[in-house]
Amino acid sequence: MHIVLSLGGSLVNTEQGTDKEYLAKIKAIIEKSEASFGIVVGGGFAARKKAKKLREKGASEFDCDTAAIKITWKNAKAVIDALGSIVYPKALKDFYKARKLADKHKVVVMGGTIPGITTDTDSVLLAEALNSTRLINISNTDAIYDSNPKDNPHAKKYEKLSYDELIELAIKNDKRTAGTNFIFDMLACKLLARSKIEAHFVSGKNLHDVENAINGMKHNGTMVV
Ligand code: UTP
Repeated sequence: MHIVLSLGGSLVNTEQGTDKEYLAKIKAIIEKSEASFGIVVGGGFAARKKAKKLREKGASEFDCDTAAIKITWKNAKAVIDALGSIVYPKALKDFYKARKLADKHKVVVMGGTIPGITTDTDSVLLAEALNSTRLINISNTDAIYDSNPKDNPHAKKYEKLSYDELIELAIKNDKRTAGTNFIFDMLACKLLARSKIEAHFVSGKNLHDVENAINGMKHNGTMVV
């Protein structure tokens, strides 16, 4: 069984550099599990900073995305270095190669693929390619809420959502102003729904939740089924 982890770039790469201590803890969780893993690593603050800088210089969105993708590959390499011998040693850039290698290695790690999408979508596409039935979104946000908990102290947290409810929340959020992105992008939500992949949204800082989600057990985040 392959489990896909969508690992937020900001958990891997903080402004102080690679968080090796954190990645060692993720490694320990992976080693304990009997499953194989496909990990997709995001860009984090470095990707946002780079894209902003290029945009200010007049670069096209295509070129901003391309530069951000390079940062996801760099973050993917940092994850590979931290995981050591259990992982295929190169950051993968396409799903076909990842699929080919996934049966031979405990872990394969990817970054972004093409401009115009995000690693949310890449992670669901990887799950489809690997026939994974479980995807864990590991980010700085501990669950899915009906509104942004940073702006609304009364935001309602969801323990469980259907695919239709998830898509409805993504649509509602799409109409908001820039900079308040929904936790999972719309295309990624739709792909989850079409393949009925069980998805868990947990905080990367709560390693107990990460482990429970990997094992399909109850956690403090949101489960989409
Ligand atoms: P992320 O997946 O980390 O983007 O990829 P995000 O969702 O904007 O970041 P978080 O989750 O809030 O931290 C970083 C950027 O890399 C480009 C996009 O510009 C994306 O915003 N990217 C990534 C692509 O263009 N294609 C990909 O396949 C992946």
